[in-house]
Amino acid sequence: MKKTALITGGNSGIGYATATLLKKKGYSVVISGRHRDRVKRAAAEIGVEYILADMAKLDDIKRLSLPFQDEGLDVLINNAAIAKFIPLSRLSPSDYSFFFNTNIRGPLELIREVLPALEKRQGRITNISSIAVNRGLLNGSLYAATKGALEATTRSLALELAPKKIRVNAVAPGAIDTPLAAKTGRSKEELARRRTMLEQIIPLQRYGRAEEVAQVVWAQLEATYVTGSVWLVDGGANIL
Ligand SMILES: NC(=O)c1ccc[n+]([C@@H]2O[C@H](COP(=O)([O-])OP(=O)(O)OC[C@H]3O[C@@H](n4cnc5c(N)ncnc54)[C@H](OP(=O)(O)O)[C@@H]3O)[C@@H](O)[C@H]2O)c1
Repeated sequence: MKKTALITGGNSGIGYATATLLKKKGYSVVISGRHRDRVKRAAAEIGVEYILADMAKLDDIKRLSLPFQDEGLDVLINNAAIAKFIPLSRLSPSDYSFFFNTNIRGPLELIREVLPALEKRQGRITNISSIAVNRGLLNGSLYAATKGALEATTRSLALELAPKKIRVNAVAPGAIDTPLAAKTGRSKEELARRRTMLEQIIPLQRYGRAEEVAQVVWAQLEATYVTGSVWLVDGGANIL
């Protein structure tokens, strides 16, 4: 039987690259996204299935899990997330719910919903975190908080699900060249300045590519004695 993978936010960046790699490895891949045109186009390009589902909406998450309940699910990649840079003084109550619902409640609820399917195949879960958990990120306190929660959850769930032979890990990217930066609310000039600055201090002196993160996700999925771990893929930024 072909192995199956569900990748949230698979229509661009790291999710897209991971879907492409898992397809190449012989997986039957389903990507999800919140905009029909984007996720449909990406699925057609990669040659995979898609499901329209907003990770901030509980009904969507339940629906997203349904196709896997009979046959089971081998791999869940919790990749979808939002990143916006907002100074603390400008954070509104709705920012809190938007960030937490998308970046932490969504992934946890999805794990809960697909758990019976993962149990059928002794599945694996990869949560996409960020080096923002360990490094300061200017105006990124709320984003960093959600990723910190996701990492904490990764370790606790790894313990909880180990008896079911389900491994739970996280991959924490550094600065990766994806469409995410353009969605953060920073201007083009600001983004260019930040990139120049970071490329001077990152030990490997460049941004990473989404495909390089996908390689680490794949290596971690294949690492059969690894659970509750967070693997960095950041060009050495963490050792600064
Ligand atoms: N790029 C980096 O430097 C970097 C660094 C550290 C961690 N990360 C993490 O890596 C992961 C992938 O990000 P990326 O860099 O590949 O950015 P990206 O290209 O923007 O990918 C994020 C994906 O998540 C989707 N998404 C966002 N909110 C969603 C929602 N409510 N429901 C469903 N899908 C939703 C986006 O869809 P839309 O197209 O509709 O926005 C997009 O497909 C994220 O978890 C991010 O936090 C990225």
